[in-house]
Amino acid sequence: MRTSVLSSALLLAGGAVAGCNGKSDACVNPDASIVAHTGEPVGEEVVHNDITLYITKPDEADPRTQARAGSAVLFLTDVFGLALTENKLLADSFARAGYLTVVPDLFNGEPAPGDINVPGFNTTAFLEAHEPPVTDPIIATAAAYLRTELNATRIGAPGYCFGGRYAFRALSAGTEGGAFAVGFAAHPSLLTAEEIGAVEGPVAVAAADQDQLFNAAARAEAEEVLLGVASPYQVNLYAGTQHGFGVRVDLEDAQQKYAKEEAFLQAVKWFDRFLVAA
Ligand SMILES: *[C@@H]1O[C@H](CO)[C@@H](O)[C@H](O)[C@H]1NC(C)=O
Ligand SMILES: *[C@@H]1O[C@H](CO)[C@@H](O)[C@H](O)[C@H]1NC(C)=O
Repeated sequence: MRTSVLSSALLLAGGAVAGCNGKSDACVNPDASIVAHTGEPVGEEVVHNDITLYITKPDEADPRTQARAGSAVLFLTDVFGLALTENKLLADSFARAGYLTVVPDLFNGEPAPGDINVPGFNTTAFLEAHEPPVTDPIIATAAAYLRTELNATRIGAPGYCFGGRYAFRALSAGTEGGAFAVGFAAHPSLLTAEEIGAVEGPVAVAAADQDQLFNAAARAEAEEVLLGVASPYQVNLYAGTQHGFGVRVDLEDAQQKYAKEEAFLQAVKWFDRFLVAA
């Protein structure tokens, strides 16, 4: 009798803290219904060390949150940054999945315009102004905030387009503020073979099949390099998608909407597998 009560208690405790490694009952797997495509963001912005951080917190009472306690998501945006509602909504979706989520403003209040083809916007100059020596320290500041102010012990970085490169960089101890636990990159841009080869943690990729930046040749090269790294990796290719599909799609296009949701769930499952303590 006593033993069975004790083991039930242990099972319950185990369910609450054991994370999501094969324990789908304890982890409460999210599904596509938690992805917000439209609507109002629910998080808030704070300024820390001159960097704006969008913070979106999970519901403490939700078993999903309890299963993922201590783990956090540092969301690395595309060039449209915090000005793009879809980025905040996607961060909110990670929070609904149970992850405390922080999105740093990587562009000091001046992201790229929603349409980068507008006259006067110089993409080359913009990218030159946001090279790793500028961007890595911003991400390091956000990570430090997560660790010291929000008590996160393990950080996973999902990155999109521009941010995808930094999801890789953040997995290298050689990067300032690096050595995050887990990375996920959707349609990364400007990513180098050296950066892929330097990862020291599990990394997953969501790739579009119609992407001029992360195209078939770039994917093949990435896979070649990943074969040589010691960490687990996963590369998913989504049909009927274009660069940016992880963040913004034509919601009237059922295949694009499906792919965006699947790429989000790919990230959540990847973090559940490798980020949440076993
Ligand atoms: C865009 O910026 C690059 C790099 O700063 C510069 O070389 C180029 O002349 C600029 N182009 C225009 C049209 O201003
Ligand atoms: C972080 O931990 C400290 C010390 O246990 C605690 O006082 C503080 O309230 C925690 N902060 C958050 C945001 O949980």
